[in-house]
Amino acid sequence: MKVLILGVNGFIGSHLVGRILRDTNWEIYGMDLGTHKITDHLGNPRFHFVEGDITISKEWIEYHVKKCDVVLPLVAIATPKTYVTNPLKVFELDFEENLRVVRQCVKYKKRIVFPSTSEVYGMCPDEAFDEHTSPLVTGPVPMDRWIYSTSKQLLDRVIWAYGWQQGLKFTLFRPFNWMGPKLDSLNAAKEGSSRLVTQFVWNLIQGEPLQLVDGGAQRRCFIDVEDAMDGLMAILRNEGGKADGGIFNIGNPGLDHSVREVAEMLRELWKDHPMRSQLGVALSEIVDVSSGEFYGKGYQDVLNRKPSIQRMKDTFGFEPKVGMKEALAKSLDFFLQEFEAMEQVEEES
Ligand code: UGA
Repeated sequence: MKVLILGVNGFIGSHLVGRILRDTNWEIYGMDLGTHKITDHLGNPRFHFVEGDITISKEWIEYHVKKCDVVLPLVAIATPKTYVTNPLKVFELDFEENLRVVRQCVKYKKRIVFPSTSEVYGMCPDEAFDEHTSPLVTGPVPMDRWIYSTSKQLLDRVIWAYGWQQGLKFTLFRPFNWMGPKLDSLNAAKEGSSRLVTQFVWNLIQGEPLQLVDGGAQRRCFIDVEDAMDGLMAILRNEGGKADGGIFNIGNPGLDHSVREVAEMLRELWKDHPMRSQLGVALSEIVDVSSGEFYGKGYQDVLNRKPSIQRMKDTFGFEPKVGMKEALAKSLDFFLQEFEAMEQVEEES
């Protein structure tokens, strides 16, 4: 199988490359702006990487859509800070650029595996979100945060309609707070624009306060990226065509935690970590911050977000295994290594 991955150097793309090369004999054609998350794989003869920009390298993309069997358009802005600071960029990249790729899949009759998002459910009141029955609830237009949710939602609907009206072969998967190594970067966290776990790890390494937006009672269900990859690989294998035309939540309802609990757990892991004494860093405080102060205007939060994963279980026997502490410890250790590497580069320059 030939797999085209756009945004191959991102969080999901980089882990997926590792899995595909390790567990299958598939060929990967990948494009991204850079390579820092996939350097380990660049020498593999089954991985064909080209540096490029989805907004510019249009001919390369069209040619490879034609050439490959399955297409994963993973290029997207997925950090809430950017939804409120540059909503138009989110629309242009996440919606417009991806729509073009979707249409090429229709034109060349290629299978598309598209990253929807847990954000499409928004402020859904259901206890656990179901792909076929839960309402998708977003906020008013001045709340820019919802531009990501609604851009993705409209693409979901367009893909779905191409499926039944024009025979597009597709699967939509919805990540629920996947976490692990390579989630954003410490540089993004430095600017305060990274997602939760990476942001907190950066704050801890700096001895800065962990900031709980609007009190930190809001909850997320986290999943270790390796568990998530088991789910995504099952979708890609598509044995018996079971993934075709499906929408699948990929998350772990068992790891349901408030933001405050995440802050406390990470702080506890860092408290006795040998690197903390080595770096001589004071243990961070946990403080409250208003969402207006933290994100600026246009931010509205999701208070509860729990996936139903019944469909993944029934279809693929999906069963996440990694516990919260283990998953957090993996992230912490990965970013500590990244931090050491950053420091070394700074020392050398
Ligand atoms: C994320 C992103 O929108 C997408 O990456 C993705 O589609 C989706 O969720 C997902 O992974 O399922 P969210 O969970 O709100 O959205 O993003 P985070 O930045 O990880 O924030 C989680 C919660 O922590 C939010 O309530 C946020 O306000 C809070 N937070 C974040 C803090 O309290 N302090 C911080 O320093 C950072």
